Amino acid sequence: MKALILSGGKGVRLKPLTNTMAKQLLPVANKPILFYVLEQVKEAGITDIGVIIDPDTGHYVREFVGDGSKWGLKITYIPQANPLGLAHAVKTAESFLGDSPFLMFLGDNLIEGGIKAFVDEFKSALPNALILLKKVADARAFGVAELDAAGKVIKLVEKPKVPKSDLALVGVYLFKPDIHLAITKIKPSFRGELEITDAIQQLINDGKTVDSHILKGWWLDTGKKDDLLEANRVVLDDYLKRDIRGTVDPNSKVSGRVYIGEGSLIENSVIRGPVSISENCQIKNSFVGPFTSIGEGTLIEKSSIEHSVILRKCRINNIERLGDSIIGSESEIMKQEPGFKPLCLFVGDNSKVVL
Ligand code: TTP
Repeated sequence: MKALILSGGKGVRLKPLTNTMAKQLLPVANKPILFYVLEQVKEAGITDIGVIIDPDTGHYVREFVGDGSKWGLKITYIPQANPLGLAHAVKTAESFLGDSPFLMFLGDNLIEGGIKAFVDEFKSALPNALILLKKVADARAFGVAELDAAGKVIKLVEKPKVPKSDLALVGVYLFKPDIHLAITKIKPSFRGELEITDAIQQLINDGKTVDSHILKGWWLDTGKKDDLLEANRVVLDDYLKRDIRGTVDPNSKVSGRVYIGEGSLIENSVIRGPVSISENCQIKNSFVGPFTSIGEGTLIEKSSIEHSVILRKCRINNIERLGDSIIGSESEIMKQEPGFKPLCLFVGDNSKVVL
C-alpha cells in the first residue's frame, strides 16, 4: 500500500506566511504540521510515500523532509503545476500510484490518535473507498456526507449551502485504484477544481462501495490563522510534557508543562505552561503564558505573551500584552513606551513592527 500526501496548494488564506513557506511546514507546538502527518503515515505501516508539491514552495518541502530516511520512509516528490483540486493531485500522481491501493492525507490536517485503525479497517473490509467523517457545528465550508440508516454513504456534496448532515469529510481517504477511472469521469466544479468529493460520488454512482468511519477525536485543519492557533493550543494541551533542557535562572518561575530547548535561557521571567520554547531562545524580564510556542533563536524582553505562535529568530521587546498572534520568522516587534491596549497581530516573515 502507498500513501499520497498533499503538500501543494498556494495557501492563500495564510499569506503572508506562505510567501516564504509551504503552509504544511508551519509549526504547531514547534514541529512542522507535515511531520505529524509523516509520523502518522509511518505508524499506519506505510513507507512508500508520494508528496505533492507546488512549484513555488516545493523546494521548502524537499529541504525539510529530504528523502524521508530520518523517518524510515521512501519519499517521491510529485510537482503539481497548478493547484487544480484534490482529485487533480491524484491524477498528477497516477504514475506513482500505479495499481496500488493508497491512503491520501492532506498535509495540513492533524488527526488525534493517528490513522492506523482507519487504515487497518480499509485493509480488512477492502471497500473501493473509505472516507473519514467528523461531526461539525457548521458543515457549509466542507465536503458533506449523507449516510443511510445503516451508515452507508449515499451522497457527497462539496460545500453545500444547505447541508443535509453535520458530517464533514476529513482530509484522510483510502482508495482502491478504481478512483483513477472515476476521476476521468468528473468535470471541474464551479470553483474550477477537480473535487475529490465529486470523484467519490462518481464511485457511488458507478455502484462501488464507499464506507465511512466517524472520527471521535479531534480533527484540525490548519488552513487559516485562527485554525493554526487552535491547532497549537490543542497539541500543546494534549501532547506537551515538561522537559527543561535550557537554563532557568533563580529569579524565574517555570510552572506546568513547559518545554525549554537546549541553549535557551530564561532570566527573571515567568513561564506558565503549556508552553514550548525551542532551542537557543532568550526570555528576559517577561511573562510567557499558556498555549504559546516560540521558535528557535527568538529573543523576548520586557514583554508579556500568551496564546501565540512565534516563529524562529524573532525579536520582541517591550510589548505589554501580545495575544492570539502569529509572528513570522525574523520579525521584530518593539515599543518605546508602555501602552494600554492589547495587541492582536498577524505579521508575515521578515517584518518589522515598531509601535
Ligand atoms: P486547501 O486547504 O484547499 O489548500 P490551498 O493551499 O488551496 O489553501 P488556500 O485556499 O488558502 O489557498 O487544500 C488542502 C490541502 O491540499 C493543502 O495541504 C494543500 C493541498 N492541495 C494540493 O496539494 N493540491 C491542490 O490542488 C489543492 C487544491 C490542495
